[in-house]
Amino acid sequence: MSLLSDPARALSEYVSHASVSADSTFATGVSSAREFAVSRLKELGFAVEVVETPIHPVVLGTRGDPSWPHLVIYGHYDVQPPDPLDLWDSPAFETEIRNGRLYGRGAADNKGPQIVHMAALARVFEKHPDLPLRITYLIEGEEEIGSPSFNGFLNDHKEKLDGDMVLVSDTGSPSPEQLVITTGLRGLTALEVKVIGPKQDLHSGVHGGPLLNPLQALAEICASLHDSDGAVNVPGFYDSVQDPEDWERDELKKMPLTENQYAEFLGIDHFYPPKGFSPLESLRFAPTLEFNGMGGGYQGEGSKTVIPSEAFVKITCRLVPNQTADEITSLVKETIESRCPPQVRVEVKVTGGGDPYVVIPPGKPGADLDSPALLKKAFAAAENRIEEAFGTHPIYLREGGSIPIIGDLKRVVGLDSLLIGLFTNEDNLHAPNESFHLGIMDKAIDAFEKLFLDLADR
Ligand code: BES
Ligand code: MN
Repeated sequence: MSLLSDPARALSEYVSHASVSADSTFATGVSSAREFAVSRLKELGFAVEVVETPIHPVVLGTRGDPSWPHLVIYGHYDVQPPDPLDLWDSPAFETEIRNGRLYGRGAADNKGPQIVHMAALARVFEKHPDLPLRITYLIEGEEEIGSPSFNGFLNDHKEKLDGDMVLVSDTGSPSPEQLVITTGLRGLTALEVKVIGPKQDLHSGVHGGPLLNPLQALAEICASLHDSDGAVNVPGFYDSVQDPEDWERDELKKMPLTENQYAEFLGIDHFYPPKGFSPLESLRFAPTLEFNGMGGGYQGEGSKTVIPSEAFVKITCRLVPNQTADEITSLVKETIESRCPPQVRVEVKVTGGGDPYVVIPPGKPGADLDSPALLKKAFAAAENRIEEAFGTHPIYLREGGSIPIIGDLKRVVGLDSLLIGLFTNEDNLHAPNESFHLGIMDKAIDAFEKLFLDLADR
């Protein structure tokens, strides 16, 4: 019996391979998770190639005849670091099932959803070993560090990706009863800012007074980047932001989540969306500028009378159509440089980025009439099969999160993606006690089994 006939066990084994891409001390887990993916694909009958990249190789699996409709399935075998470890109720890489959820780092992002696809294919191929559907599997190991090798990989392997569409489950849904078909992803730009003052740390009594403290200068620059409405105060930042379409606002109203419930989930009393957007709108339709980490000076116990020589902040912006990462990166960089007081120096390093992505579902206003038959078929089938398995009609919504390579696949090989959200807010992505809902897993396997059959050319 193949491991995939027991999806919870398969997921448990996949999660136990600690594949933290950001940290080289996890190299063994990264390669054993990759081997796990390779073995499952081979079991499913795929020809598998492990393609080397400068960091973590890509798993490329292929099956089927070039004359069949061609589906590309994307996933990532890497996971986020498990820290802070002491906040986990069970060890991050020793899975535990509690209350119908499987706990462990990567359970939801993205190993559980990958097991859903694979388990559904296992059932399909058992009954229909010659199913006329060509599939190319692409499972990368650098998604959680921004996919630095992916564009190189794409350029070298373009010809293998002459498919009709991509299928991805690496986005969210509001509840186990209500799924979302994701129609867009925010883009991202990442910057590291360093403010540099005196040539070394100084005694704040011996030298305090005559000079500008780099932490103070940095705090003032950071404070200037939003105005009192919560909007990003970078000239031009909103110039290319598109208003959401009417149908998108209508879909958002179908979300079974009220502002109050969301505030309670977050543990906050007051929202602070930028002017012009409601809290739930701002998450999907507005761009952001966030401070992800800030430092300088003394961070240890007690006090230390020091003027630090340097201070830093890490910033990311989430981008929406039609902003581009290049455009926003230069606007933010120039604004920060222009706001640096003359008494200190500032260095802005760009550390990554990707453009936003949208796919308008066939039938909605503005949809691409020339999109491949397989994509049109897939959206219709997904809607039906999800409704059948979950008892509710899926909602069509853009996401707040980013998967930069989805835009790259569109740009480089012209492929649009059908993104079916299988994780929920309660899954704690990137946080302690990440889990995957096993009820969603079971229903989703039923839905995907039928969806794959619908896609085949029969
Ligand atoms: N699966 C997430 C993306 C995601 C999260 C989509 C939530 C929808 C809702 C993905 O693994 C991820 O975390 N992406 C990073 C991208 C970054 C590392 C370049 C993100 O969004 O921060
Ligand atoms: Mn992910």
